[in-house]
Amino acid sequence: MDTKLLDIFEAFLQENLPKTKSFHPFYNEAYAQMIKGGGKRFRPLLLLNVVNAHNPLLLNASLNAALALEMMHTYSLIHDDLPAMDNAELRRGIQTLHTTYDEATAVLMGDALNTDAFFVLMHSPIDAKTKVRLCEILSFNAGSGGMVLGQAIDCHFENSPLDETELEFLHTYKTARLIAAALQMGGVIVGLPNDKESELYAFGLELGLLFQIQDDIIDATKSKEEAGKPTHNDTNKNSFVNLLGLTEAINKRDAKAKALKIKAEAFGALSSYFQKILDTNFK
Ligand code: IPE
Ligand code: IPE
Ligand code: MG
Ligand code: MG
Ligand code: MG
Repeated sequence: MDTKLLDIFEAFLQENLPKTKSFHPFYNEAYAQMIKGGGKRFRPLLLLNVVNAHNPLLLNASLNAALALEMMHTYSLIHDDLPAMDNAELRRGIQTLHTTYDEATAVLMGDALNTDAFFVLMHSPIDAKTKVRLCEILSFNAGSGGMVLGQAIDCHFENSPLDETELEFLHTYKTARLIAAALQMGGVIVGLPNDKESELYAFGLELGLLFQIQDDIIDATKSKEEAGKPTHNDTNKNSFVNLLGLTEAINKRDAKAKALKIKAEAFGALSSYFQKILDTNFK
């Protein structure tokens, strides 16, 4: 089922990225390079699976929101890789934008994807009230009180170790907020009652924390070919591996994944999807 949703999403992405006419020699290629470059599409698939589990008839109408999430995420990756941040030359198995072109291009394409995410979202074929809520959730979780705060703490506290509570705060903001937003946005599209929407969001925050623990483990244990991005790059970072050591980070990941598998049982039609992602993404 997930392969089907992934195929639908990929086809939609190929067809629906904004294109601009100008005399700039590589503007559209640079804009599309990183988002077409691949990636797991974890966030759009979360949203689409929530919709699919509750009202598959709304899947097509949800694709704009799924694409908006992936655009937001891709902008965050492009900026994350800049020399001023993590200074990475590889992403999704291809050269980063500032490596292929230049830093100005990478900054600007990130800016464009960030802003265009809301343009694409606002063109969703759904009612205006729902779109406004989706817009609010995406901006709240990605902006100054969300992902950007996490990134700012990540960068500011390089080389100054945080304690475990602070580290969880950092990971929750930089990664978990957007992942939780993806689930909540799916819930909004299908009109879940407020308490169910909040339960999905809370589950997403925990799933997102687990996701970043796994990302830290990937940095410590995988090759750059396997990861599609530079690894052993977190030396000066507040990562779970640096704080706890690899063995304890793995133990924490396994314990969190196990706890979430139990919590996932409460999600009815979504439960088997959650079980599947918990079984496949975190080992
Ligand atoms: C990487 O995200 C950055 C983090 C928030 C950990 P992903 O692991 O989802 O990267 P892609 O989208 O698959 O490339
Ligand atoms: C980045 O976290 C999270 C974002 C908001 C982009 P990382 O710096 O750990 O992500 P990778 O390891 O470069 O993908
Ligand atoms: Mg980073
Ligand atoms: Mg990085
Ligand atoms: Mg990382």
